[in-house]
Amino acid sequence: MRLGVNIDHVATVRQARRTFEPSPVFAALIAQQAGADQITLHLREDRRHIQDRDLELIRELVKIPVNLEMAPTEEMRSIALRVRPDRVTLVPERREEITTEGGLDVVSLKDRLKEFVKPLKEASIEISLFVDPVEDQIKASAEVGADAVEIHTGTYANLWNDHRFQEAEEELRNIEKAGRLARDLGLRVYAGHGLTYHNVKGILKLSHIIEELNIGHSIVANAVIFGFERAVREMLALIKGGRT
Ligand code: PXP
Repeated sequence: MRLGVNIDHVATVRQARRTFEPSPVFAALIAQQAGADQITLHLREDRRHIQDRDLELIRELVKIPVNLEMAPTEEMRSIALRVRPDRVTLVPERREEITTEGGLDVVSLKDRLKEFVKPLKEASIEISLFVDPVEDQIKASAEVGADAVEIHTGTYANLWNDHRFQEAEEELRNIEKAGRLARDLGLRVYAGHGLTYHNVKGILKLSHIIEELNIGHSIVANAVIFGFERAVREMLALIKGGRT
C-alpha cells in the first residue's frame, strides 16, 4: 500500500499562533525525504489550518504527487484549476465540525458532482470521492465519473480505539465489500481518516483491495512526542551554552 501523508495539523499548530512555524511546507519536504508516496492537504473554506500559500509552495516544491482535499465549491475548484494538484479528493465540509465527520453524500449530489468534476478531469486532475463504505455511494461515485474513491475509515477507527473489536471487525468487512465493489466498477480504491499506528493493522489486512492510505493526525501527533525531547535539549543547549 502507498502512504499519503496529510500535513494539515502541522499547520494547525502554526495557526494557533498565526506565526511562521511549524511550516507544513517543510513537513511535506521531510515526508517526501522519508519516502512518503504522496502529500495530502485539505484547504478548508475557513482556512483553519492550510493556507493558500502553503498549497502553492507545496505544489511548486514537492516532487511526489499532491492530493488536494476540498469541498465541492466554485472557489475551491478555481483554486484547483490554477494550482493543478495531481489529485482532487472531494470531501464534505461543515464549519462547526472538528474534522471531516463522514463521507460525501454522492447519491444526493450526483447531478451536481457530474458537472463539477468535468473541468477538473479535462485538466487531467485525478478525481477521488471521499465516501462511507456504503454500496449506493460507491455506485453513485462511478456514475459521477470519478477515477477513485477514498473509503472513510473513521467509524472503524473509532470502534477500534474504543476497544469494540468485534464491531470494528464488522466495519472492516463493510470496507472490504465497498472496496471490492468500487474496484469491480473500475474505480481505484484508497482509504483514510482516523488511522493510527495501532488501528492501521486491521486495514493492512485489506491490501489486496486498498492501494493507498492517507494518514495525518496520528503521524503529526507522534512527531510532536518523538521530536519533543530533542527540541527541549536543543533549546537547553542554547540557553545554558551546552550545559544541560
Ligand atoms: N482522508 C481524508 C479525505 C481526510 O479528510 C482526512 C482528514 O483531513 C484524512 C484522510 C486524514 O485523516 P487523519 O488526520 O485522521 O489521519
